[in-house]
Amino acid sequence: MKKILNKTELSHHIDALKAQGKSVGFVPTMGALHNGHLSLVNKGLEKNDLVVVSIFVNPTQFDNQEDLVKYPRTLDADVALLLTLSDTTIIVYAPSVEDIYEGNVKSQSFTFDGLEHEMEGAFRDGHFDGVGTIVKRLLEIVKPDFAYFGEKDFQQLQIIKKLVELHHIPVKIVGCTIHRAEDGLAMSSRNTRLTKEHRVIAPFIYKTLKTAKVKFGTKSAKDVTEWVEKQFKKQPLLELEYFIIADTKTLKPVKRKSTKKTYRAFIAVYAGDIRLIDNIALN
Ligand code: PAF
Repeated sequence: MKKILNKTELSHHIDALKAQGKSVGFVPTMGALHNGHLSLVNKGLEKNDLVVVSIFVNPTQFDNQEDLVKYPRTLDADVALLLTLSDTTIIVYAPSVEDIYEGNVKSQSFTFDGLEHEMEGAFRDGHFDGVGTIVKRLLEIVKPDFAYFGEKDFQQLQIIKKLVELHHIPVKIVGCTIHRAEDGLAMSSRNTRLTKEHRVIAPFIYKTLKTAKVKFGTKSAKDVTEWVEKQFKKQPLLELEYFIIADTKTLKPVKRKSTKKTYRAFIAVYAGDIRLIDNIALN
């Protein structure tokens, strides 16, 4: 498997492949790969001649230094996992901070039609400026035909679609359904940092989302939200940060339900020090 550490070498390699008419898929990751990532890479492999997987823990999207320091870094294991999918049609791009930021580790400032102010944007200061900065830079370096993002970070997915639209970046963004463990917990690199106790209780998050979906069929968003908040108060090992039912397009919290709109419920929960997010389509 080709492992490339710098952008100039990667660009040359990709330019040569594109000159041969090959299509390029792209899966940006922060490493600590799991089956959720592998399903994105597989989607990319179905549609493209080759898939670039970037592995880069992007410092500018962390609002919490400790989270950045403790973020799992497992490059050798990541490469070994990707090898189980393909040796010849995957390129790993694992740049250094210097290769990406060239001595200026700062975010650009973005607006995304207001999507950036909701939920994760409200609770994680500067997060989407960091995500916008790295994704824009990576798309410019890799120049993929298709780029794949998981719906676990649904707000991120919507923001990246907006980024591409507003900045006229010639790539098709493909959203992929959430990959879950057998017990329902959404796959996340952070899951490996859960204590045994927290890992056992964490599927409660998705279980609650599923019941909230059923309740939303007959109850108001306010009633469902109050019900969810009550469930988490009874759960001492998990601390609810937010549960919000929002319009799928604008991500604004729903005030009055309309049959013409689609909604999604979004949740952020602390399991000890580990912050987990999840979401579910409601209609
Ligand atoms: O979803 C992620 O892992 C990251 O936010 C991304 C898209 C790789 C940017 O660093």
